[in-house]
Amino acid sequence: MFTDKEVTPQLDPARIPAHVAIIMDGNGRWAKKRFLPRIAGHKQGMENVKTITKAASRMGIKALTLYAFSTENWKRPDSEVNYLMSLPVDFFGVFMPELIAENVRVQVMGELEALPAKTRQAAQAAMADTAKNTGMILNFALNYGGRDELRLATQAIARAVQAGTLDPAAISDDTIAAHLMTAPLGPLADPDLLIRTSGEERISNFLLWQLAYSEMVFTPVLWPDFTPAVLTAAIAQYQSRDRRFGGLH
Ligand code: IPE
Ligand code: IPE
Ligand code: MG
Repeated sequence: MFTDKEVTPQLDPARIPAHVAIIMDGNGRWAKKRFLPRIAGHKQGMENVKTITKAASRMGIKALTLYAFSTENWKRPDSEVNYLMSLPVDFFGVFMPELIAENVRVQVMGELEALPAKTRQAAQAAMADTAKNTGMILNFALNYGGRDELRLATQAIARAVQAGTLDPAAISDDTIAAHLMTAPLGPLADPDLLIRTSGEERISNFLLWQLAYSEMVFTPVLWPDFTPAVLTAAIAQYQSRDRRFGGLH
C-alpha cells in the first residue's frame, strides 16, 4: 500500500510490465468526499484515463486494460448508468486526436451489443480509427464480466464441437484463450500487473482466466486521484516481486 506522497522510485526500464490492467475504482467516494454527485467522480475519472493513458504509453507499457463498466454495474440507478454510457462518446470525441498522435490502438471488449447504440458506435469508431496504430493497445472493458466471457467462450467451443470442427480432446489452453475477449491482444492477453484503486481488494469479475499469474497491487488511492507517480510506484512494487509461475527460482 502506498500513496503518491512517497518518493518516486526508479524503475528498471528492461522490466516494465508489458500488460497492465487497472480496476478503476473509487469515483463515487472521490465525489462524496467533495459533497459532489457521483457522476462528478465519473467525469473526473474519465479525465484521469487520459492522463494515465499518456503516462503508460510513454513508460513503454504495451497494453493497458481499463475496467470501465462491469456486467454487474447495470444494477446501479438509471441516471448513473446513463451517465456512464455517455462517457465513451465524450472520451473518444475529445481524446481521439491525442490517441492518434500517441500511436495508441483502441480495443473495447465486452458485450457491446447490449450497449446503447451511441456508446457502441463510439467504441466501434475508436477501434476503426486507431486500427492501424502500432503503439500501446488501450483496451477498455465495457460491459465486461469474466464469467460472461467464459460462458460465451464455452458456448462457442461447444458449437464447434457440435459442428464436428473441433475434437474435445484437442481443446487446449490456447483454444480457450482464442475464444476470450482478450484474443485481439495476442501474446499480451494475460496481464503482468493488476492494479486496483480505492482500497478494495477483490477481482469483481475481472479477467478471471487471464489473471492466473498476474502480480496484484492494491492502493488506497481513489481512481480520480491516481497519478503517473502512483502508477510508477505500483510498477516498482511489481519489479520487486519474484514471479515463479509455480516453478523454483
Ligand atoms: C468506479 O467507481 C467506476 C465504476 C465502477 C463504473 P465507483 O463508481 O465504483 O466508485 P465507488 O466504488 O462507489 O467509490
Ligand atoms: C468494479 O468496481 C468495476 C469497475 C471498476 C468498472 P465496482 O465498484 O463495480 O466493484 P464492487 O461492486 O465494489 O465489487
Ligand atoms: Mg466501486
